[in-house]
Amino acid sequence: MEGLRRSILLATAALMFAAVMLPEVAAVRYIVGANMGWTSNVNYTIWAQNKHFYNGDWLFFVYDRNQMNVLEVNKTDYENCISDHPLHNWTTGAGRDVVPLNVTRNFYFISGKGFCFGGMKLAIHVENPPPPPSSSPVKSGASNLLPDFRGKIFVPALFAVAAVWDSLLLLL
Ligand SMILES: *[C@@H]1O[C@H](CO)[C@@H](O)[C@H](O)[C@H]1NC(C)=O
Ligand SMILES: *[C@@H]1O[C@H](CO)[C@@H](O)[C@H](O)[C@H]1NC(C)=O
Ligand SMILES: *[C@@H]1O[C@H](CO)[C@@H](O)[C@H](O)[C@H]1NC(C)=O
Ligand SMILES: *[C@@H]1O[C@H](CO)[C@@H](O)[C@H](O)[C@H]1NC(C)=O
Repeated sequence: MEGLRRSILLATAALMFAAVMLPEVAAVRYIVGANMGWTSNVNYTIWAQNKHFYNGDWLFFVYDRNQMNVLEVNKTDYENCISDHPLHNWTTGAGRDVVPLNVTRNFYFISGKGFCFGGMKLAIHVENPPPPPSSSPVKSGASNLLPDFRGKIFVPALFAVAAVWDSLLLLL
């Protein structure tokens, strides 16, 4: 009987650990331009404002594949809309390109075919994720229009864990 209890305890502890840790590392996939997508007449400087891009997050470019593309360039080429020698051509042809933000640095994206001159350019800074929110579990991300699940999942997860823990204590 003692052994069974031990196993249950251990399994529960493992589950709780997973429940707390998973939201912590959950990456965010940002749809560039939100419901406007990657297109002309969107100011991507404003879109990126007040967002935190963390190492492990993703950018999702949704656009008209017959017109635009997604090119990663350096700062100079971003500023001058030069698309001749991109650092990386993320265009796959489907008009839906996913870019992993897996390095902490600045990223510069433009659309070639002349659209950059009309404002189709995005500069972001990718940073390391914040430390575990032990002191302030709920981030004040009020200005985020896009789903940023980090804070939202964490609190329910904590409640769930507390509930499981309570029922476990009743069992023992
Ligand atoms: C960007 O690339 C161009 C062409 O290779 C180069 O002339 C320019 O100095 C680079 N700019 C930066 C900031 O690295
Ligand atoms: C980018 O890659 C796509 C798909 O392979 C290709 O069709 C397109 O010509 C490339 N664009 C540039 C600017 O290299
Ligand atoms: C980041 O992702 C790119 C594209 O998938 C890959 O080529 C590169 O090796 C990755 N870099 C790191 C540091 O994981
Ligand atoms: C986008 O908005 C920023 C901040 O308001 C402004 O500085 C920039 O000129 C705008 N860009 C374009 C292409 O309109």
